[in-house]
Amino acid sequence: MAVVESAESVGSVKPKVVLGVSGGIAAYKACELLRRLTESGHDVRVVPTASALQFVGAPTWSALSGHPVSTEVWSDVHEVPHVRIGQGADLVVVAPATADLLAKAAHGLADDLLTNTLLTARCPVVFAPAMHTEMWEHPATRENVATLRRRGAVVIEPAVGRLTGVDTGKGRLPEPAEIFEACRRVLARGTAAPDLVGRHVVISAGGTREPLDPVRFLGNRSSGRQGYALARTAAARGARVTLVAANAALPDPAGVDVVHVDTALKLREAVLKAAADADAVVMAAAVADFRPAAYASGKIKKKDGRDPEPVALVRNPDVLAELSADRPRADQVIVGFAAETDDVLANGREKLRRKGCDLLVVNEVGERKTFGATESEAVVLAADGTETPVPYGPKEALADTVWDLVVPRLG
Ligand code: CTP
Repeated sequence: MAVVESAESVGSVKPKVVLGVSGGIAAYKACELLRRLTESGHDVRVVPTASALQFVGAPTWSALSGHPVSTEVWSDVHEVPHVRIGQGADLVVVAPATADLLAKAAHGLADDLLTNTLLTARCPVVFAPAMHTEMWEHPATRENVATLRRRGAVVIEPAVGRLTGVDTGKGRLPEPAEIFEACRRVLARGTAAPDLVGRHVVISAGGTREPLDPVRFLGNRSSGRQGYALARTAAARGARVTLVAANAALPDPAGVDVVHVDTALKLREAVLKAAADADAVVMAAAVADFRPAAYASGKIKKKDGRDPEPVALVRNPDVLAELSADRPRADQVIVGFAAETDDVLANGREKLRRKGCDLLVVNEVGERKTFGATESEAVVLAADGTETPVPYGPKEALADTVWDLVVPRLG
């Protein structure tokens, strides 16, 4: 079992967290989230909806939180709970957040204690959705999620996996540990307004593929996870996000404008177009430095008895260097990534100078490091000489550190 660092043990005041639970089967997983929150020194008040209580009863929430539990506004009226609970919170987290709860929150409905709490809370709010894939992908839900994110709420992407019944797909409640980490990051950032509201950020992700013939390509091992984490966290911080995705087999993040590309030249075209009015551009994609000089329109066949023809390559344009040199505005912030196997920091420093960007995220790669993994560690080098180490952890945490460093550099 993971050791959870206590908020009290680091000397801070016990943060007040409201855990909203809406009516989904994943309500039972919220018990684990509650346990993590209380054990790490948070004062948690659980506010389940009436339908959540069909799945997990009030005695469980009350025993685990150490507080009484009610769902509607008619209990303890003298304490005005429908206003006080939200007003006094440092963080509200709703897990699971059903499609119905997200719709109510997006439209400001207040017909029970949880929805009243969401309207009166002025602290950060985190939603961890759980529902069937069709519900998550429905335009109504997508618009509600986009509305909530625009207003500054953090809506965590649902996980992909087994759903209720025999269905599998996107819509599963993220693991309690992941929701807990998201809550900790939001609490650490405090109650400040989301800091990318009104900003347009462009992120490239994935790995380009350079075709040799209709069936073969030169590619690389980038999964796109880091770029997608950057897109999700930027959207959560209020940005308008364009994600230029090269061959990433990942679902489009909600509330993000995704442009799918395959080759380095297509990626360049899409990134430069989106960058024209961008406040920041983050090149997380692994862009092929070379492409085959010629494309065979028919499949290249082996010729018996003869050695294969060597493959001639030509250079691809360096998109990051081009973006850094020809900025549409002097205050546009440009971020690059460098995956290195040897002399990681020395190569990173040299690459930062060579590319001319403002920040360079340097990480060490190898067979099992970074590519395809959900966690990574890195150092962010800045053109002003500062170096920010990011300890091993989820790619979302690295993404948030990148935005923490981008924000003060924005015009
Ligand atoms: N990049 C780019 N265009 C390219 C190649 C890379 O924009 N044609 C960007 C990547 O998106 C990344 C950064 O440049 O943000 C670093 O990529 P990397 O491949 O490490 O840099 P190279 O210049 O190719 O250096 P190396 O000599 O290590 O290959």
